[in-house]
Amino acid sequence: MSVVPTTIAPEVEAAVAGFMLTQAQMTEVVDRMTKEIKMGLAKDTHPRAVIKCFVSYVQDLPTGKERGKYLALDLGGSNFRVLLVDLKSNTDIDIVSKSFVIASSMLSGPGKDLFDFIANCLADFCKEQRLQGEAIPLGFTFSFPLQQQGLTKGILVTWTKGFSCEGVVGKNVVALLQEAIERRGDLKINIVAILNDTVGTLMSCAFTSRNCRIGLIVGTGSNACYVEKTVNAECFENYQTSPKPHMIINAEWGAFGDNGVLDFVRTPYDRIVDKVTPNPGKQTFEKCISGMYMGELVRLVLVDLMAKGLIFAGERSEKIQTQWNFQTSYLSDIESDSPGDFRNCSKVISQLGLVGNHVRDKLHLRYICEAVSSRSAKLCSCGLVTLINKMNINDVSVGIDGSVYRFHPRYHDLLMFHMTKLLRPGIKFELLESDDGSGKGAALIAATAVQNQAPK
Ligand code: BGC
Repeated sequence: MSVVPTTIAPEVEAAVAGFMLTQAQMTEVVDRMTKEIKMGLAKDTHPRAVIKCFVSYVQDLPTGKERGKYLALDLGGSNFRVLLVDLKSNTDIDIVSKSFVIASSMLSGPGKDLFDFIANCLADFCKEQRLQGEAIPLGFTFSFPLQQQGLTKGILVTWTKGFSCEGVVGKNVVALLQEAIERRGDLKINIVAILNDTVGTLMSCAFTSRNCRIGLIVGTGSNACYVEKTVNAECFENYQTSPKPHMIINAEWGAFGDNGVLDFVRTPYDRIVDKVTPNPGKQTFEKCISGMYMGELVRLVLVDLMAKGLIFAGERSEKIQTQWNFQTSYLSDIESDSPGDFRNCSKVISQLGLVGNHVRDKLHLRYICEAVSSRSAKLCSCGLVTLINKMNINDVSVGIDGSVYRFHPRYHDLLMFHMTKLLRPGIKFELLESDDGSGKGAALIAATAVQNQAPK
């Protein structure tokens, strides 16, 4: 009988040691992030802050009584979606949606082409749903850093997640969409709100869970929003006079560390990943956490260990040598195997063009994946704890969406574990998976916007 090895070679351990954050390092991350968040909120430090804490112009959480039909657009990853959301009751929501693949050439082409594509998809959907001629209110979930100047005006600050279309940074994206709709000339659309996906996620969870105060995304990108006191949202023109006590703040935490304050937890692999992205030096925190980068981090460790003959010794594979070829979904697959079983792991190995005859190699591959995903969950926990401490509340729910959180077998448990260790004793929290926050959230914000516009 063959014995399954269970120990990790010291050289492999050493290669991933940088991913194993200690409790002291995590506490330090929370302290540093707290400072950066305060800088983002305050008017005088905002211009040089890296965590921008953008004002969302959403001040009302859902009452649970929102009703009606709304259109939603969801742009933020490699798929673009158009949705028709019918809020029938707070337990009965009908959603019809259609996804469109964005050609990779479009991610870096002229912005005009991207917005024409969006308008065409919208027209296609409206035709299919027989909605032409009906001016249904539309909420636009646009998941990139936006400097908002109102609920229907948002200037793109920078692209993230592999997008780099020309002619959009510095522009009001609502106007760009409106112009594309007008170029077609056959659509009656009433854009009533633009929002971040984190805000949509928070709103959709708050629709059913009264305690929800944070919206988190851990998918292709990562970011969170939270409910701040309006008086602290100094970049909002009416922060001192607004009759509404709260403002949802889109933290844009992905940029945390762009000024070097996270260098003490970054590894040499993080620096390599950063260099090959279209936005080097930007989105440092996001690049340590989110799905767009986790697979590439694992691949870089593997390539390094293979070059030293420490894993898959004697094997060669073109695939593993190619950038971005280790999909982040592989981490979820590999870590879903029960201990000692390497079924998914073996599949991944063969998809990478490797043979992997030795159990020890599989054990090591899993160990590397675990190191990268636990670091992601630890840093995310630090972020959530920072926001909970900032709000100074004792009982909170967090609405969460994104492929990493959804599909990784241990992500939820890792967050629970590390947050509990970092939070002051006695603070109660729950983590809720959001079900289509981008769509539902856009509809809820659109509903409130329409209500607020209506003559009283
Ligand atoms: C964007 C955020 C977004 C997050 C999750 C980041 O790259 O900057 O606006 O919320 O991805 O989609």
